[in-house]
Amino acid sequence: MARERTLSEQAFEQFPQALVIVDREATVISLNEVAERLTGWAQRDAAGRPAADILEVRTETGVNLCAPNGALRRALRLGTGINTHFAYLFRLRTSDDPVRVSYSVSPLRLKGKTPDGAVIAIHDVTPELETIEARDALMLAASHELKTPLTTLKGLSELLLDFDLTEAQRRELLQDLHGQADRMEKLIGDILAVSRIDSGRISVDLARVDADDVIKHVCDEVRPMLKGRTLTCRVPENLPAIMGEARKLHQILVNLLTNAIKYSEPGTQITLSAHSEPSAVRFEVSDQGVGIRREHMPRLFEKFYRADDPAVRRTSGTGLGLYIVRSLVAMLGGQVHVRSRHGKGSVFIVTLPRAETTARPRARVAAVAH
Ligand SMILES: Nc1ncnc2c1ncn2[C@@H]1O[C@H](COP(=O)(O)OP(=O)(O)O)[C@@H](O)[C@H]1O
Ligand SMILES: [Mg+2]
Repeated sequence: MARERTLSEQAFEQFPQALVIVDREATVISLNEVAERLTGWAQRDAAGRPAADILEVRTETGVNLCAPNGALRRALRLGTGINTHFAYLFRLRTSDDPVRVSYSVSPLRLKGKTPDGAVIAIHDVTPELETIEARDALMLAASHELKTPLTTLKGLSELLLDFDLTEAQRRELLQDLHGQADRMEKLIGDILAVSRIDSGRISVDLARVDADDVIKHVCDEVRPMLKGRTLTCRVPENLPAIMGEARKLHQILVNLLTNAIKYSEPGTQITLSAHSEPSAVRFEVSDQGVGIRREHMPRLFEKFYRADDPAVRRTSGTGLGLYIVRSLVAMLGGQVHVRSRHGKGSVFIVTLPRAETTARPRARVAAVAH
């Protein structure tokens, strides 16, 4: 019996939601650890005080749970439970920002019909809301970005259907159409990648990777996009292998090179080079393009961030590329930096661990979501 009692007490103490027990006068009897943390009130200071002293939980319309006419009093009077999905908890003691919570009030009866007290359960919903908000933002950006190529695609197909066209004109329209479809495909690929990264549904299969092979493939892949820019791929003889994953390295470099192309003019030079360091391989992607102003630098790798610069606004994009790059680089245990001068050009530098200096020869590592 004693043991069961201890377990019940432990369950109350360690319950992952904030629990506050009040008597029929709405006076605090006890609160558990999460409640102590959330309200800033220790059990010994809170016990015996009116619930309104330690808890200010307001719904969106501003009604306070513990007010004389609030839901707690009503629950204690009428014996009905309450569930609210969205409210704010104000931290009177710590004057921290309000916390977004859901809560329930359940009347407690020892005997008879009238409640002898109630238990208030409060759940901090900040992480859930952040996930939902991130998903909404992604959906919104995706719809917005897909709309433009889709409209063009529709227009092009109408032209193709309606007019008597020469073979050359038809080809040109079809090429445009193909280009727009390409753009949509890339965009959807980015959105899927971000969704996988954010939900932690991505794992890394670390292995020895010969970076020069990957570089060769990447350069072949982006060459058709150059449109008058020159691309030089420079890899030293005997470049040491990295401990990484070829597909992810490929994705990182393609993203950086596509940016170098997108943010520079035809006629300029783009370089992808690799360098051996004592315990890492350093990859550099440099361009002679629009560059990046100092004030934009700290935010470049954030999701959806695009520099507020006319040269950037002219191009289409979602601001997801560098977020994907940073996430992938982190998964491979590396680092990414940028150096840039506005109007002159930029260099993106990625360092990844070398194979022979890594202790574990082959390991599966779960991805870290950001
Ligand atoms: N090579 C570059 N030169 C200049 N600005 C760049 C370069 N690469 C990235 N940026 C800046 O970083 C922002 C974020 O890049 P990215 O995440 O790839 O998104 P997107 O290319 O879709 O805009 C870009 O909008 C641009 O402002
Ligand atoms: Mg990009």
